[in-house]
Amino acid sequence: MSDKPRVLSLMQPTADSLHLGNYLGALRQWVALQEDHEAFFGVCDLHALTVEVTPAELRQRTLRAAAQFMAAGVDPEAAPVFVQSHVPEHAELMWVLSTMTGFGHAARMTQFKDKTAKGGQDQANVGLFTYPILMAADILLYQADKVPVGEDQRQHLELTRDLAQRFNSRYSPTFVVPEPHIVKSVGRIMDLQDPTVKMSKSASSPNGIIELLEEPAVNAKKFRSAVTDSGREISYDEEAKPGVANLLSILSAFSGRPIDVLVGEFEGKGYGDLKGAAADAVATVISPFRERTLALMGERSELEQILARGADRARGVASRTLAKVYKKVGLLPPVRR
Ligand code: TYM
Repeated sequence: MSDKPRVLSLMQPTADSLHLGNYLGALRQWVALQEDHEAFFGVCDLHALTVEVTPAELRQRTLRAAAQFMAAGVDPEAAPVFVQSHVPEHAELMWVLSTMTGFGHAARMTQFKDKTAKGGQDQANVGLFTYPILMAADILLYQADKVPVGEDQRQHLELTRDLAQRFNSRYSPTFVVPEPHIVKSVGRIMDLQDPTVKMSKSASSPNGIIELLEEPAVNAKKFRSAVTDSGREISYDEEAKPGVANLLSILSAFSGRPIDVLVGEFEGKGYGDLKGAAADAVATVISPFRERTLALMGERSELEQILARGADRARGVASRTLAKVYKKVGLLPPVRR
């Protein structure tokens, strides 16, 4: 066991490519944190079953997600990369936690409400309702101190903390109570076509979302057609100029230059210049990322081996936590025959 603080985060394999929000809000933070933390990173394929997908697609997207983690710089030797369904403890702990979650509490989760509002109650499955409890199990199994995510996951983290505290006080200290790790400047990357809503694989129009594995020329075109406003001045104002603010945040994150410096540099220039600069800065980083992902996808058996090793290491931690939980809640241990 290492004495470094623990970090854990997962991503859903719900699209053929991760998008810019996933990258800036989460994946880049993962890579930064793996240095001085004991980190675990996973593909949450069980969560992805809550939306309709063909079996072949789900398998392919699961591998692609893992390949993208590594293409972005996750080092699977330092930080095990695993697939959630390879570690059965996730679903097992979820059951125990679901018996401790108030129905009303689960029903107040805004992501659930948003998702069901779109499709109506009949479109929603029970898995969508219990989704945040599975997420709590993902986190608590690893005794994670920090969970790097985007702003949209804050409420799920609150539920996770609440469950950990409730379990600890009902039984005895068992779970680490995790902190969300949300980087404010990139915690909520907005849709390029509607900068008042977050970029999202389920909700964004194709032109509003920058996919990391898309042809660079296609992404450049999407930047050029990004919605801004009728003004001319480049300034950072999330309320009055959400489109310009979003482009500045993206450019700042990819160029490493602070927003106020950028605003100074763009004085007297137009929105077209800002869009072009953002597109170029993004392309510089994601073109090699895309090449690396495609190369990793070409070595499928090696990728599968990495995931198998990752699952073994993850299970080592997860099974210890689950055994403690089963014992504390009073499940009768099976005797060895
Ligand atoms: P998912 O797969 O929807 O998104 C993956 C990560 O990307 C972040 N993100 C964003 N960040 C900034 N701006 C955006 N527009 C944006 N869109 C997405 C998400 O916040 C997330 O960090 N429930 C999680 C997956 C999950 C998980 C976990 C995360 C399952 N178990 C345990 C952490 C720990 C989700 O839906 O992520």
